[in-house]
Amino acid sequence: MAASNRECEANPSSGVEFSRCEIRTPTGVDLVRLCRFLMDQFPPDRPLLETVMETGRGFSTWTPYALFCGEKLLGNVSLMPLRIWVEGRFQEVMGIASVATDPTCRRMGVARRLMDHCLAITDRQGLAGVLFTSLPRVYEPFGFCAVEQTYRAIAAERLRVAASTPQCAWNESLSGPMLGLLARIYRTECPDYNGKVDRDAAYWEFYRTLLDASPPTELLISFRGGQPSGYARCELESDRILVTELCANPSDENTAEGLLAEIADRASRRSADWVTLALPPDHFVFRFFQNRAILPEREPEGFRRETFMARPAGGHTGVSLAGLQWSLADKF
Ligand SMILES: CC(C)(COP(=O)(O)OP(=O)(O)OC[C@H]1O[C@@H](n2cnc3c(N)ncnc32)[C@H](O)[C@@H]1OP(=O)(O)O)[C@@H](O)C(=O)NCCC(=O)NCCS
Repeated sequence: MAASNRECEANPSSGVEFSRCEIRTPTGVDLVRLCRFLMDQFPPDRPLLETVMETGRGFSTWTPYALFCGEKLLGNVSLMPLRIWVEGRFQEVMGIASVATDPTCRRMGVARRLMDHCLAITDRQGLAGVLFTSLPRVYEPFGFCAVEQTYRAIAAERLRVAASTPQCAWNESLSGPMLGLLARIYRTECPDYNGKVDRDAAYWEFYRTLLDASPPTELLISFRGGQPSGYARCELESDRILVTELCANPSDENTAEGLLAEIADRASRRSADWVTLALPPDHFVFRFFQNRAILPEREPEGFRRETFMARPAGGHTGVSLAGLQWSLADKF
């Protein structure tokens, strides 16, 4: 018999009675309850969670595991398996997301219980775990280690390398057909690099929802003969534009030059002096800069970004996915 809410209220002295609790993937009203809870914890995720409430299912591969005591929701951890390109082949990794505990039962082991459950699933599948967090200490006891991410900064003016630029347009949202055209460029024109996510149709829908939902994020698309030839995903930050994705055929220098020059223009119109390139070290744009004797610098210390952490497959100790740069365009 399900325990009543009253019976399940967490007691600060005795804590949560886990023997009365159950971890399950919520559906129906429980899923709606979870979405509302997660909206409170992570307000920027509201549009994604509204989609989950409307459709009654998780976006892309996102699957929640929530701890319930009767009808009371105590906390959640979600799993989001993704395939990424690593050293010449695709590798599946398990993204850990939406980790939250009801404020009335924090520091009582709820997150630990849910993490143990989700990491057991991850281990059974033989996958490495990955996550972004502002609280790395929470995840270290589970074997997650920080993987240093390198963000290169460049004075916006230095991006003006083109004499003439192709037609470009900024977009805050995308139509379905345009999404398909960009997906083709991503898959077939832009070379594979370490950390490149294998995006299927469901993932592109998730990508589109995120783009629609966050006004500081815009997609710059360049065109040739009326067709898109490349794109850059940019976010306006306090004093800079953050480029989280630059996608084009590397042999098409005109497209890359045009995108970079337009980003420089956008920066100067927004009084942003800097552009940060959150792109992996093996991204073709760095060879492009090298050929023009442009040396991007390390982003200055003190610009706080979330910590990217990884845990080796099987929960073994040691650093996993060392050196991997995770695309901020693919934060989950
Ligand atoms: C972070 C959060 C999920 C932790 O949940 P919780 O159920 O309180 O965590 P647990 O009780 O299982 O704690 C396990 C361990 O994590 C660590 N920990 C928990 N909260 C912490 C915090 N705020 N800061 C640092 N370490 C923390 C502690 O080592 C703790 O063990 P201890 O209580 O014996 O010292 C919860 O505080 C929360 O929902 N925060 C808001 C949402 C959020 O920030 N989520 C994380 C996004 S990546």
